[in-house]
Amino acid sequence: MVHGANSIKKQLEWATKNLFSISCSAGLDSEVLLAFCLNKNRSYLLTWPEKELTAEQLECFREIIKKRLQPQPVAYLTGSREFYSMELNTTPDTLVPRPETELIVDTVLDLLADLDSPQILEMGTGTGAIALALKKYKPKSNVLATDFSQGALDVARSNATKHDLTISFEESNWYQHVPERKFDVIVSNPPYIAEDDPYLSQGDLPAEPIMALSSGETGLEALEVIIQDASSYLNKDGWIVLEHGYNQQQQVVEMLEKYGFNSIKTLTDYNDLPRVSLGLKI
Ligand SMILES: C[S@@+](CC[C@H](N)C(=O)[O-])C[C@H]1O[C@@H](n2cnc3c(N)ncnc32)[C@H](O)[C@@H]1O
Repeated sequence: MVHGANSIKKQLEWATKNLFSISCSAGLDSEVLLAFCLNKNRSYLLTWPEKELTAEQLECFREIIKKRLQPQPVAYLTGSREFYSMELNTTPDTLVPRPETELIVDTVLDLLADLDSPQILEMGTGTGAIALALKKYKPKSNVLATDFSQGALDVARSNATKHDLTISFEESNWYQHVPERKFDVIVSNPPYIAEDDPYLSQGDLPAEPIMALSSGETGLEALEVIIQDASSYLNKDGWIVLEHGYNQQQQVVEMLEKYGFNSIKTLTDYNDLPRVSLGLKI
């Protein structure tokens, strides 16, 4: 079959070729963005490759590909990203939730398997991804989620409403406004990239909020603040669970030892990289 220049197939080929220079998922990005402009799902594109785009659809696609080339992350352009089978609103105020972060949710759900209505504190919630996933799969839990960014908290609140999940939110510089009560788990995916790491200027990262990515010179600053005071907010037999860089396992484990945690473990992500460390308060 012959496909015209304005057909779905030809437009996807054009966009994919253009996006190769900035994205390692150029084909997928093109499909997601075209599906967004057509208000259809990706399977529609594969079912109707010969379908011609209208002038309005073509304009939407040209514009959105131009923005992707800046580069702006796909999740900011479509306004959403899937995490733990939930569609989450995502804006430039929030980190784009990463698939690797699903590991921290799996880990916490395993740790809390025997508690019916656990008390959970998530610090640095961003879109609310971790807090929402925990509440969804542990519906009787009591979840408090914090962030220092009011913009991120607005997005997290909108996501809680969208998914009909009841979560308490608090604007807080780490523990500053966390009420003096005890939790069964403190979980966080804090900013952990060193401020001079060249990775910060690569790919989509320059478009994401710097406070979501880096907390200082070594990248370990936020992790230490969180670990240092965690014991005062944890019940006996409570856990701290932290995501960190693949190269920070040793330092994080040493910090957990230094601040008195037990049964310390590090888990690897789907790429077999050490990503999540946890410790028990006894
Ligand atoms: C790596 S992002 C994680 C976002 C989300 N939890 C996720 O996993 O997708 C770190 C989050 O910590 C927040 N943050 C940075 N500094 C903070 C601080 N001093 N106190 C509280 N939250 C902070 C950022 O605004 C950001 O939302």
